[in-house]
Amino acid sequence: MNVDTLREAALVISNSEYLIALTGAGISKESNIPTFRGEDGLWRTYDVMELATPSAFVRNPTLVWEWYEWRQGLISKCDPNPAHNTLVRWEERGLLKTLITQNVDGLHRRAGSTKVLEVHGDLWALKCSFCDYQGRLNKPASGIPACPLCGKHLRPDVVWFGESLDRAIMSQVYTELEKADACIVIGTSALVQPSASFPLIVKQRGGPIIEVNIEKTMLTSAVDFHLSGKAGEILPALDELLT
Ligand code: OAD
Repeated sequence: MNVDTLREAALVISNSEYLIALTGAGISKESNIPTFRGEDGLWRTYDVMELATPSAFVRNPTLVWEWYEWRQGLISKCDPNPAHNTLVRWEERGLLKTLITQNVDGLHRRAGSTKVLEVHGDLWALKCSFCDYQGRLNKPASGIPACPLCGKHLRPDVVWFGESLDRAIMSQVYTELEKADACIVIGTSALVQPSASFPLIVKQRGGPIIEVNIEKTMLTSAVDFHLSGKAGEILPALDELLT
């Protein structure tokens, strides 16, 4: 990593008035949570169509819940890493205004970030597949939870393939994107829309984009700074260089 590039990126962060961040599975990799498309990515082993679509849940809710139970168990044993913690510090300093995440692991909130918009939902939140009930799990599920109101199957309140994103959250996201004057994108392959386009909205309005990733992505050709390396190392290094 070129130290000058790191310094220049840190200067952009220091000079920004409305910095926002977009994070993906890569930021939690050093917390030992697998990504989706990386080397040991979940979608390399598991079939998304059998586990993360509304029709999969209708066909085989037991299998879908077994997969979520396994992920909840795994995530409950993991802790936020220095990358999550750096974003907390930036929020506390008033530097980071909003954190948009595609992650459902809840690690940003566990680390202490409060200005978080979870565009793909939350692995611990529940909703009824039939009525309006919404609830929360405080430990990994065990079997298919039943709705306390109507008795039908509860499902994880995450966005599955083929589903729309939550309108209220998206409205907040677009409001934040309109205000942002710089964007840091951490650990996402930028292959899933609409999140992949969020940084480009900031860019169109003249805001610089900083990308932190161990590899090049679909976004790399459009960014102002590509900081190659692990988020858990690059973010603390940027933090040290802030003025
Ligand atoms: P991906 O698995 O597609 O991409 C993870 C990215 O993180 C890759 O670009 C890796 O190079 C990078 N990466 C891995 N380790 C890293 C590290 N230590 N530091 C920095 N970068 C690292 O994950 P997402 O882009 O988050 O959707 O995937 C987007 C969505 O696709 C997910 O939210 C999920 C999935 O299907 C839903 O579940 C709806």
